[in-house]
Amino acid sequence: MSSRELCTFLFTLVLISCRFNRVEAQLQVGYYTQSCWMAEFIVKNEVRNAFIRDRGLAAGLVRLHFHDCFVRGCDASVLIDSTPANSAEKDSPANNPSLRGFEVIDRAKAMLESTCKGVVSCADILAFAARDSIEITGGLGYDVPAGRKDGRISRASEASANLPPPTSDVDQLTQSFANKGLTQQEMVTLSGAHTIGRSHCPSFSNRLYSYNTTTVQDPSLDLSYAGRLKQQCPEGSTNANLVVPINPSSPATTDVDYYTDVLANRGLHTSDQTLLTNAATAKQVAQNAMNPTLWRSKFAAAMVRMGQIGVLTGSATGEIRTNCRVIN
Ligand code: HEM
Ligand SMILES: *[C@@H]1O[C@H](CO)[C@@H](O)[C@H](O)[C@H]1NC(C)=O
Repeated sequence: MSSRELCTFLFTLVLISCRFNRVEAQLQVGYYTQSCWMAEFIVKNEVRNAFIRDRGLAAGLVRLHFHDCFVRGCDASVLIDSTPANSAEKDSPANNPSLRGFEVIDRAKAMLESTCKGVVSCADILAFAARDSIEITGGLGYDVPAGRKDGRISRASEASANLPPPTSDVDQLTQSFANKGLTQQEMVTLSGAHTIGRSHCPSFSNRLYSYNTTTVQDPSLDLSYAGRLKQQCPEGSTNANLVVPINPSSPATTDVDYYTDVLANRGLHTSDQTLLTNAATAKQVAQNAMNPTLWRSKFAAAMVRMGQIGVLTGSATGEIRTNCRVIN
């Protein structure tokens, strides 16, 4: 390579990297180092306390971040309470009654307001708490780029419109993630979050009792697993609190058992089992099941990408909410 070519090459590299910085939102790792150096420790401490009380809260916090980011970007709109004039995201059927972990965020926020008033956004707390939850359940920790501002709008209708329902097939899931700038592979990688946590019976009971007009039970569901689910979720039960673990063998551990389940036709939701119906996604499922180390790092990277969706940064119209449940 001549020195002129080298120059052109280097110049191009600089251009490309500048471009990247612009496309990838301007979030920064260590954003609160100067303004509130203990911010991430405070969040981690609250997540740890919550996990000791109830290990399921880790799953709740990971899902909160996902449901925040897919609706109006990662702006903590999912945390805003409804008012008489407005039905907020958290009261959409996609979120209520199944989302949990709100009090953990409230506690972290209260602690942060008393140590560094008006500095740390609720959206960043959600991103930190999701990372801490993955770490505490045995997943790979990762640096969280921060500097998100909190939004001022939250509408229930937008949650239903932007969150993929559990009845989605692989094409619908791929489209839903593409709408947020995420690839099909990232969709498969992130679905691995279903290795922790629980699901309420109505999220999958159609697979047990009313698959379609001619078939009662989803034929893609393992028979003995279906039998167990039917015991846990009796047909026509009016108990809205019935839940099952999504990955029964290790519901509080971030591992690749989710993918093992799917391979064995024990994916709980239609949206889990459907990953086997497409050659590319099925290949990803098999690869993740066999290679925990690879999945752990892909998952961490995909979480960082998910955490960049539609963020409000800099002077964009956002605020640092004082109480995560209400706009300032
Ligand atoms: C691919 C599309 C997805 C669909 C259709 C979906 C759907 C669901 C459903 C129906 C539940 C059970 C809710 C209930 O009835 O209690 C659930 C739980 C959960 N989801 Fe997803 N999800 C998807 C992707 C994700 C992603 C990307 C993440 C995070 C990165 C995630 C994290 C979780 C977690 C941790 C739980 C357990 C929550 C708890 O125990 O409180 N999901 N999901
Ligand atoms: C119902 O599902 C079964 C099993 O997948 C399928 O063979 C059948 O064609 C479906 N029937 C209708 C009406 O969609």
